[in-house]
Amino acid sequence: MTDKKIIFSGIQPSGSLTLGNYIGALKNWVSLQEQYESYYCIVDMHAITVDKEPKDLRKNTLEVLANYIASGLDPEKNTLFIQSHVPAHAELSWVLNCYTYFGELSRMTQFKDKSQKNSSNINAGLFDYPVLMAADILLYQTDLVPVGEDQRQHLELSRDIAQRFNNRYSPTFKVPEPYISKVGAKIMSLQDPESKMSKSDDNENGYILLNDSPDKIMRKFKRAVTDSVGEINYTDNQLGIKNLITIYSKLTEESVDEILEKYSGKGYADLKEDTAEVVIEKLRPIREESERLVKDKTYLEKVYKDGAEKAQYSAMKTLRKVHKKIGFIPK
Ligand code: TRP
Repeated sequence: MTDKKIIFSGIQPSGSLTLGNYIGALKNWVSLQEQYESYYCIVDMHAITVDKEPKDLRKNTLEVLANYIASGLDPEKNTLFIQSHVPAHAELSWVLNCYTYFGELSRMTQFKDKSQKNSSNINAGLFDYPVLMAADILLYQTDLVPVGEDQRQHLELSRDIAQRFNNRYSPTFKVPEPYISKVGAKIMSLQDPESKMSKSDDNENGYILLNDSPDKIMRKFKRAVTDSVGEINYTDNQLGIKNLITIYSKLTEESVDEILEKYSGKGYADLKEDTAEVVIEKLRPIREESERLVKDKTYLEKVYKDGAEKAQYSAMKTLRKVHKKIGFIPK
């Protein structure tokens, strides 16, 4: 046993991962792996709240696992696993359903957004999504949950559910804290710098995928939407340029001021091309390693099986406690 704090986070296998996922999530996770005991899940059960082709789901799940490892998450230091492999997630989620109010779930902004976008398939899973997420987190007695700002409301709900259960019975769940990193964690679309970079964007020029070729990356950056100011500044009046500088800074660790100094008097084309180069070089080894890993099915299988076993062990401890407290008969 260690006294390290526990981290839990997850990504949906709903497509290839983007540069936004890398900068906003994976890169930070890698920097946390020595200090924390971490669980990183591929949330395939969340992914089916939107209709998925089985073959795509299968492919994306393994691809995300390969991306995790290729980005530097060491399977020896972190528990990397697939959500559906640990049935305790579904089981706890049922129990927590009975401690979550219809009204609370109706207020979730992500549910409102997603049901607008998928008006032909507003299924109960989509509505219940945040409860499954609470189960994910609470099963591991998680201290910290690194997520993007868009998940803050879900995390608040997880905290409320944990507290409600603890008050009704006795302390059972650790109440998790959000761990939302500061400036520039959010990478914006290259085509519409007011919205988040997302693989579900209709315009593929808006996002960079971890497996985009160097040519494609260069092309997308050259087409990035900027403005007509004509001067390189880091301000909310020039969101496109600001986004490029953020990407550049996050990947090179150079400060925004250093970058501004370097580009003072230069044109947008220079910044676009140089940012593309930085991205290309950063993603090259990740793409190559991911491509190698997805072909090595035996290795990936070993990683997710070991991961599921470790996760299952911790999860069952919490689930048994929960069942006992609510009055289920142990078998
Ligand atoms: N809902 C999260 C997202 O879309 C993914 C997720 C599922 C998650 N379960 C989680 C994130 C638990 C953190 C912790 O980004």
